[in-house]
Amino acid sequence: MSIRTILIVGLLIAFGASPLYAQSDDALKVKRHFKIKKPARLTPPEAMSVYDNVSEQMVKGYAVSKDPSAMKFGSWRRYNSAPYNSATHGNRYVNNYGNAKARGYDKMKAGDKMPAGAIIAKDSFTVTGDRGVFAGALFLMEKLDAGKSPDTGDWRYQMIMPDGSLFGDSQGTGANEVSFCHGCHAAKAGRDFLFYIPKKFQIRFLD
Ligand code: HEC
Repeated sequence: MSIRTILIVGLLIAFGASPLYAQSDDALKVKRHFKIKKPARLTPPEAMSVYDNVSEQMVKGYAVSKDPSAMKFGSWRRYNSAPYNSATHGNRYVNNYGNAKARGYDKMKAGDKMPAGAIIAKDSFTVTGDRGVFAGALFLMEKLDAGKSPDTGDWRYQMIMPDGSLFGDSQGTGANEVSFCHGCHAAKAGRDFLFYIPKKFQIRFLD
């Protein structure tokens, strides 16, 4: 994973960010050039309460894409206890959701594989030092039928912008734009290319 790729991811997500809580018309005007100079450092309860306030609006934006996962992921199981900062996804606060087929995401051992149809969705948002809240991209990984995409461990990667526009789909439009996804996830080949969640934010489910 090169520094350049990490920078590109960060910049793209920053440029795609759109304000949820615009405090003034100026905030709206500058949204295409938004960059986080001083991101807020939130405690987990603070991050959770910001997320509770904005998640509905975030889902509405992603749903404009008409992607079935973008429209439904909000009703899936959330695997993290509170939004956490992800340096690898543009330094945004993120959450990880899994659909019914992805049950067992929290119990994956070395060598395990997700079944076809399993989908993990990672939404994201930013909070600036002055408490402006901006939606970030939605990151999706979907397990395809065996043999469908051997180069990516049969995972399909998608990135959907906060306004619902598609940044890239490894199985369709803009495939090149999202080839860096697997470039990094390849590091976890032994766990079916899944990184999972930082320890502090993991939840143990009984089923
Ligand atoms: C530089 C490395 C890197 C890149 C590039 C990257 N990811 Fe990730 N991804 C991670 C890490 C690390 C985690 C787990 C921790 C976290 O959330 O920050 C993760 C977690 C995820 C998850 C949750 C499933 C899991 O692995 O546990 C999804 C979904 C995801 N990434 C999608 C994407 C998509 C889509 C792209 C491309 C648009 C992408 N990622 C690019 C490193 C990366």
